[in-house]
Amino acid sequence: MSMLDLRDVTRDVLLPDDRVLHILRGVTLSVAAGEHVAVVGRSGTGKSTLLNILGLLDAPTAGEYLLEGTPVTALSNRRRTRRRGQDFGFVFQQFHLLPGRTALENVAAPLLYAAGRQFWHRRDLAASMLDRVGLGDRLDTMPEKLSGGEQQRVAVARALVRGPRVILADEPTGALDVETGQQIMDLLDDVASETGAALVTITHDLAVAARARRHYRLVDGVLVPVDVGGAGRVADWVGDVPTHLPVGRTHLPELGPSVPAQVQP
Ligand SMILES: Nc1ncnc2c1ncn2[C@@H]1O[C@H](COP(=O)(O)OP(=O)(O)OP(=O)(O)O)[C@@H](O)[C@H]1O
Ligand SMILES: [Mg+2]
Repeated sequence: MSMLDLRDVTRDVLLPDDRVLHILRGVTLSVAAGEHVAVVGRSGTGKSTLLNILGLLDAPTAGEYLLEGTPVTALSNRRRTRRRGQDFGFVFQQFHLLPGRTALENVAAPLLYAAGRQFWHRRDLAASMLDRVGLGDRLDTMPEKLSGGEQQRVAVARALVRGPRVILADEPTGALDVETGQQIMDLLDDVASETGAALVTITHDLAVAARARRHYRLVDGVLVPVDVGGAGRVADWVGDVPTHLPVGRTHLPELGPSVPAQVQP
């Protein structure tokens, strides 16, 4: 059974001028425990909206979302909130760290709702996760004093500290240099395999996307599977940006820093 199962999900929003914006137009996606799925797509195509629905932060307008076989609409608000806290680790695109709380307090925050050992050892667990993102010496620093990349790493540590069964990462390396980004993706993959989590990564960076087992591109509100092993790979991945990279060029400015060898034309 799939951990996450979206069936023909749409998401519409009503604009102030009474027009309806169709953000998602029928998204079908299944992600099993232990699977890593990547979604790429141009800015404004609905990637964060999709992740918010998967993370129970937003509801589909139509279609069905089954969480381990149970329609989320069958869960009470209380139960949905509890599932979100217990089972989901969310790396927000805008980090959403708590201001005025130290890095350690931010990372320990999800464990305040945990039971037993996780609750009592929350500071040790948070410190150890901050160490894994390379911030073991910044435990008592406030987020506003940290660089963008450091804040992003705190956000990653917070998402992982409870050992989630579902990890939803929205541009998790967006503020990081290539090398630190690779280390953070290693960590996401490591924690996902430690807990057997389903991992969904949204990214503009093809090198990050290439680490996933399955790949999708969000186009006009529809998820299109991408076969990175097939012909015309870069065209598949990036849509309408030029596919004729000059020889030796490994950089698509619209998409982020690097194109991995396996997706170069
Ligand atoms: N509540 C809302 N009200 C109005 N418009 C919205 C709302 N939520 C999302 N949108 C619009 O829907 C579109 C998709 O937004 P979303 O944040 O999902 O895009 P994205 O693919 O994550 O973009 P980016 O790559 O820039 O992060 C955007 O045009 C956005 O302005
Ligand atoms: Mg987004």
